[in-house]
Amino acid sequence: MSGWSLVYDTFDPKAEGLREALCTLGNGYFAVRGAADETEAGGPHYPGTYLAGGYNRLVSDVSGRPVENEDLVNFPNWLPVAFRHLTGEGATGEGAAPWFDLQALELLEYRQELDMAGGLLHRRLRVKDSAGRISRIESSRLVSMDQPNLAAQAWSLTPENWSSPIELRAALDGRVVNGGVPRYRSLRSQHLVPGASGLEPDGVLHLEVETSQSRLRMVQAARLRLSSGGAPLNVSPEPDLTEGYAGARFRLMAQEGEAVELEKIVALFTSRDRAVSEPRLAALDLARRADDFARLAQRHALVWSQLWRRFDMRISNNTETETEEMNRILRLHVFHLLQVCSPHICDLDVGVPARGLHGEAYRGHIFWDELYIFPLLNQRLPEITRELLLYRYRRLGSARRLAQEAGHAGAMYPWQSGSDGREETQQVHLNPKSGRWLPDNSQRQRHVNAAIAYNVWQYVQATDDLEFLSAYGAEMLLEIARFWASISERAGSQPDGTGERWMIDGVMGPDEYHDGYPGQEEGGLRNNAYTNVMVSWLLRRAREVLERLPFHDRDELCERLRLGDDELARWEEIADGLTLCFHEDEDGQPVISQFEGYGDLLEFDWVGYAAKYGDIQRLDRILEAEGDTPNRYKLSKQADVLMLFYLFSARELRALIEGMGYTWDDRLIERTIAYYSARTSHGSTLSRVVESWVMARIDRRRSWQLFCEALRSDVFDIQGGTTAEGIHLGAMAGTVDLVQRGYTGLELADDVLWFNPRLPDELSHLEMELRYRGHFLQISVGRDRLRVVASNHVAQPIRIGFDGRIHDISHGEELEFALSPSNHEPAPDAAAEVAKGGGSKRAMG
Ligand code: BGC
Repeated sequence: MSGWSLVYDTFDPKAEGLREALCTLGNGYFAVRGAADETEAGGPHYPGTYLAGGYNRLVSDVSGRPVENEDLVNFPNWLPVAFRHLTGEGATGEGAAPWFDLQALELLEYRQELDMAGGLLHRRLRVKDSAGRISRIESSRLVSMDQPNLAAQAWSLTPENWSSPIELRAALDGRVVNGGVPRYRSLRSQHLVPGASGLEPDGVLHLEVETSQSRLRMVQAARLRLSSGGAPLNVSPEPDLTEGYAGARFRLMAQEGEAVELEKIVALFTSRDRAVSEPRLAALDLARRADDFARLAQRHALVWSQLWRRFDMRISNNTETETEEMNRILRLHVFHLLQVCSPHICDLDVGVPARGLHGEAYRGHIFWDELYIFPLLNQRLPEITRELLLYRYRRLGSARRLAQEAGHAGAMYPWQSGSDGREETQQVHLNPKSGRWLPDNSQRQRHVNAAIAYNVWQYVQATDDLEFLSAYGAEMLLEIARFWASISERAGSQPDGTGERWMIDGVMGPDEYHDGYPGQEEGGLRNNAYTNVMVSWLLRRAREVLERLPFHDRDELCERLRLGDDELARWEEIADGLTLCFHEDEDGQPVISQFEGYGDLLEFDWVGYAAKYGDIQRLDRILEAEGDTPNRYKLSKQADVLMLFYLFSARELRALIEGMGYTWDDRLIERTIAYYSARTSHGSTLSRVVESWVMARIDRRRSWQLFCEALRSDVFDIQGGTTAEGIHLGAMAGTVDLVQRGYTGLELADDVLWFNPRLPDELSHLEMELRYRGHFLQISVGRDRLRVVASNHVAQPIRIGFDGRIHDISHGEELEFALSPSNHEPAPDAAAEVAKGGGSKRAMG
């Protein structure tokens, strides 16, 4: 890594899959893995092109049983460019040498660089063949952030010590299948039906494909230009067309020391695009009139520089070099986030695939991971969050149907979502360790519904976008609340004397190691603490949401939803009565139980299993292969109860738990964190983000260690091979958000932007720019002071909270606060106390 780039200066076949994922280029509309130009799928390589929302369904046979899956389709590979020597001038090709293959040659020099500032992938290499011929190959590519339907490659070959006739080919290859994830390889993978292809007289190649079930047509067109030293070469291409493949071949004499350059400008359109007549027409047209590579790269870099202005943040300590690498990794995370969630997703009706557009793991499905992603977008480009929430809104009908089919009211969003919002969670999954196909119960993670509602509320807090709340957000939130109320059951009076109780049964929490009680796996779990507290929070919000709406909108919405006071009162009763279970820790002190009965499970032999297996991140697979199940043990794949301390401040949590009728004790958080932290394998990359966050004010050293590990998740592929199948977007965004909100103590509550900074000991300074309700805020946090500068002359004043006090701030004003190690939570009654000092305010310039 250097500067703003990710650099590899050796070729390592074993690491190629990982590098392809990390060097993916995309623009929100589509993305391509960072595979080398000349490669096809196989061996260490897996070129993949993915379209946002580009899904297709296939039915496979698994042990005689039909299993249907919806996949994010691998679309035609538009990268291919390669050359070969011809034995003599005019040779037909039969006697030609094999096509360029890095692995068959002696590698003299190699450098691959992902330039995050300019959004480019460069590759430069020198090779020697068995005849002693040394060739230099350089290539650069981009997927335009300026024009989402465009991508471009600039490729060149320089013969260093030879002159010979060569053949050069460039292609669009639609003979690809979804083969990127070994676990899925026994399932059907042929999603594309080939259509027309051709090479136009002006040298424009084109290829059309259609997905077999969703009938999504894609046309790619490539304009090819040959030159040498910038001067056009007048060589006509020969067509090389077969089913699903459009290629062009150029034969020419390569001269020692003279570069042969090929520019390939690719336009890509689909039958879903707006403002086009027909994709083939649009693709050919754009390929013909697009600028050359250099100009496209300039415009592309300009848009990237604007995005970076909004997203870049800088952490530092006294020895800058220590944080340099961290800043780079944080940028890498932002870079990939923006390549999936860019402004170009507007109008595309897409959600955030958990593994980006970077590979085929989880089939491009959308889970709850946006809970980790939206806070970053909310504070920088909230219009993207809005779009992504609209993806959910458009599937409200499906969610209502899912609820109804399961015997509930309201809307129940699926655990995994794809094109139309039906439940896409696979019915069976393969344990690669045992080779067995097993029932997949993870769809019981109804908590995704709490996350969606929470995300709506957070977005509104960040933006005050009441128009969104009126038109879409409130309806989603209320229908989800209605679902939760209907899945809640009366549980009778409790022996603990906390009165009449409610329970939620048959669900799973975020910890995927527990999908049911031992021996009764089909039934799910009862009273998952995370779920119940989130539901209690949501059911309490309902009235507040309605109060925010203009009377007119509110009345109409209630009329449409047939929502009356009785139902709202029932929701409040459930919110107050949901059950929370506790059990004792090693010292006999109460901790929150992950679910009812958790305390009765067996302790797990962490030391023994670590000694036996080394990597024990995926204990579910290990235990199943041994004929055992994680359901029997006190162990978690990922943060579950701890999610509560991640999403709510201590002040909010206390109010929630007391509201549910339980006694709060100040040490409960600390004990509960310590308890689960000792029992988590971090089998999900999301987990370290949460634990680092919740530890930040309790065990600072451990928190920092987890932050550093979370930063390494993808760059160093710490799960041992998963990143090659797609990056972990939630963890990527989550680490950046740890800096953004975790270290600044940023909290959106009561229409106030609260700060409560506490930098880790390893950092001395943090700087970034945030957006809040139309304002651009320059934030600077040091060891002893927090500075906030507001700008945007057309935005209304906003309220900044610090140390229990609230300060109004407008365009051009600056607030400065002295920090002490004991910065505490905002006081519960803080909203009443406006700007009584505690900070100094002055007008800027
Ligand atoms: C995690 C889930 C997550 C999913 C997609 C799983 O391994 O357990 O919490 O939503 O990956 O990232």
